[in-house]
Amino acid sequence: MEEIYKRRSIRKYIDKEISDEILQKILKAGMNAPSAKNTKPYEFLVIRNKQNLKKLASVKPNAYMTKDSNVTIVMMSKEPTEFWKLDLGATIQNMLLEASSYDIGSCWIGINHEQGEYIKKEFGIPDDLQVISMVSFGYKGEEKEKNDYYESAKIHYEKY
Ligand SMILES: Cc1cc2nc3c(=O)[nH]c(=O)nc-3n(C[C@H](O)[C@H](O)[C@H](O)COP(=O)(O)O)c2cc1C
Repeated sequence: MEEIYKRRSIRKYIDKEISDEILQKILKAGMNAPSAKNTKPYEFLVIRNKQNLKKLASVKPNAYMTKDSNVTIVMMSKEPTEFWKLDLGATIQNMLLEASSYDIGSCWIGINHEQGEYIKKEFGIPDDLQVISMVSFGYKGEEKEKNDYYESAKIHYEKY
């Protein structure tokens, strides 16, 4: 699948609107990821306001790209289940690949507990939600080579 290799972390964006229609498709792709026992533990906070995007950039030094993104989605989980982090990882990856299919750049931004608490406070997110990541999206302001991370040494085969 071409999108797997085409997708790179894009941290520079041009000032161009992502349509609501495409944004919905990205969210829908996320919701169609597999989840343990089909619990679908994801919740999405969509941020488009410039001031708020700037606020997200201040969460940590390597979250600066949210500032110039057109949309950043804060990924959260309600009532975390046994595998919620894995479930949300699959959700995020689906969103990145869907965005890439529209030539939209994205960057996955990991959020730790403390940073998550800051975001919750700033955005009035209820206490029962946990923040795990953010994903910034925007039309590309930089081009990158396709991925080619294949390493045969990482593959192990069973011994008979
Ligand atoms: C869980 C996770 C957290 C990440 N957090 C950040 C981050 O905080 N800031 C950032 O610039 N990139 C972040 N990345 C992107 C990685 O740096 C990037 O995927 C990796 O360097 C490989 O580059 P590529 O995505 O272009 O293939 C994160 C990726 C993952 C999967």
